[in-house]
Formats: sequence, structure tokens, C-alpha cells
Amino acid sequence: MSAPAPHIPVLLDEVIHALAPAPGESHVDGTFGAGGYSRAILAAGAARVVGFDRDPQAITEGATLAAGDERLVLVPERFSRMRDALAERGVDAVNGVVLDIGVSSMQLDQAERGFSFQADGPLDMRMSGEGESAADFVNHADEGEIAEVLRDYGEEPKARRIARAIVAARPITRTSELAAAVRKAAGHHPGMKKDPATRAFQAVRIHVNDELGELEGGLDAAEQVLAPGGRLAVVTFHSLEDRIVKRFLKTRSGDVPAGSRHRPAASEGGPEPTFEAVARPVRAGEAEIAANPRARSATLRSARRTLAPAWTKRTEGPK
Ligand SMILES: C[S@@+](CC[C@H](N)C(=O)[O-])C[C@H]1O[C@@H](n2cnc3c(N)ncnc32)[C@H](O)[C@@H]1O
Repeated sequence: MSAPAPHIPVLLDEVIHALAPAPGESHVDGTFGAGGYSRAILAAGAARVVGFDRDPQAITEGATLAAGDERLVLVPERFSRMRDALAERGVDAVNGVVLDIGVSSMQLDQAERGFSFQADGPLDMRMSGEGESAADFVNHADEGEIAEVLRDYGEEPKARRIARAIVAARPITRTSELAAAVRKAAGHHPGMKKDPATRAFQAVRIHVNDELGELEGGLDAAEQVLAPGGRLAVVTFHSLEDRIVKRFLKTRSGDVPAGSRHRPAASEGGPEPTFEAVARPVRAGEAEIAANPRARSATLRSARRTLAPAWTKRTEGPK
């Protein structure tokens, strides 16, 4: 089998502009992947990059890069655990945190990882290779649970009907089988604008990897590890994720009516804003989209950490 195409970093210049790495600084790349952002942060002169990835394969493949540059440290962990993982390595605070949410091209392109229905493979979809696989979920969850995942994470209008078809088609062990069951139930025909399997695969992947829970935990952890003046940059690929980042930055920067239930005013004992200089969302330009279609749905949001103490003290998910 040929090696998967390398991942092309999305919105790279814009991310580096937002992070503004300076000589002597430490940064966290929470989603190392193929190391596109880490390389650029180091090239900009940062003294250290701690790269996290929950996929052991990404860490193994990045080992050559890390072996050749002692400023890069790779950590096989979820980014929601960054505070503890940094503390274990003697790092209390960093000057930048970047998260590039979702899966890499390497993960998508390897049929045996089971993320894609473009090529048949075992129905897996686990980034870390641990825990419940996509096959475990579709074969054991009840119809209502499957419908909820399709609706909540895939924004699928025919969630109930598709969930019923999935249950009827069990056991499902291959990506092609899941795609076929979804298409049949959703009334897919060739030439249709959007393949309904796209939404179903996104939904099951988000569920299996608890991607939205990880994003929330990662934002809280970034708030805890960023030094005053430190920069947060987050790239997301669909509205569910972008909404979480937008809401987080809005609330944490105090951009909510004072005294609201989301943020009691400081005078009422509410916490002080932990982020400021929240930038407008940045989208990829036409040239980048032409060169890398994956950039089409990307949104970058960024902000600067204030001096105020973090709102959350502990954010760790289950180990
Ligand atoms: C979109 S890719 C990142 C690509 C990277 N920016 C680059 O330029 O090569 C996302 C990567 O983040 C990893 N990932 C996703 N969620 C994660 C999490 N919660 N914790 C750690 N790594 C995660 C995936 O395994 C994948 O390798």
C-alpha cells in the first residue's frame, strides 16, 4: 500500500500570526499531526514546542523530527490533559496554545483506520486506537442512542430512519457496510450534492472520540496553562466545534451582559475575564482552498490571555 499523502497545514500563516511566537517562548501544539504548525512555530524562533497527539502513530512519525531538534518534545496524550502533562514535565505556563481540531489526512487516507468510506476498511475511527470503536458503537447502541448521535453530531434530519436501518443491518464491521446502510435509508443516489454517509461518518467519529468534550476540556486546559499575554489559536472544521470556541471566547472575555447567569459581574463576585483581544474569525482565502480543499470549512479563532486567574481549576476528563 502506498504511504498516505502528508497533511497540509491549514491557515498556517494566519495561525502563526495569531500565535506570534517569539524567541525564548514555549508553545503547545495540542494537535501535532504531521507537525506542520510545530515546525513553523520553531522556525519563528520559539525556544520550545510541546506537541500533543492522542494518535500514537502521529507521535511515532514525529519522532524523527523531535530527534533532530531538542526544542521539540512530543507527548502521546489528549490535549485536554495538557495542564497535568506539562506539570509532569516541569512546565507551569506557556506563551501559546494552538489546537487544530479533527482528523489528519494521514488518518483519513489509511483505509485500515476506518475513518473514511472512500475506501473500504474495518469500522474503527479511534484516533488513539483505544476504547469503543465505531463498530462497537453501531453494533451495540440502541436505535435511540444512534439517532441522537446522528442528529446531534451529524445534524442529520433523517436520523431516526437511518438509525433504524443501521440496527437492521447489524452486524456492521466495514466502513462500506455502514455507508451502504446510511445511503439506502437516506435515499441517496449518485449525483446527489452531499453524500449522507459524510454526515453519519462525522457523527460517529465525533462520538467515538468524544471530540466535543475534548475541545471543551482543551479550552479550559489552555486557559490554565497560558501565561498572561499568552495567545490561544483554535482552528475548527464545522459549526458544532466553532460554536464551542466562539462561546468560550465570548464568555471568557466578558462579552456577555453583566450580571447574566453565564457571568455574574465582577462586582457581584463573578470572575474577571481571562481572555482579551478576541480576533474576528479568519477563513481560508480562495488560493488556499484551491490548493487544499480541506481548508474550505476551516475557521480560526484567537485571543490573548489576561492576568486573571483561570475560571476552572480542574478540567480533566476520564483517564
Ligand atoms: C487536523 S490534524 C493536525 C494537523 C497539524 N496541525 C499539522 O499541521 O500537521 C489533528 C491531529 O490532532 C490529533 N487529535 C485530535 N484530537 C486530539 C485530542 N483531543 N488530543 C490530542 N490529539 C488530538 C489527531 O490525532 C490528529 O493527528
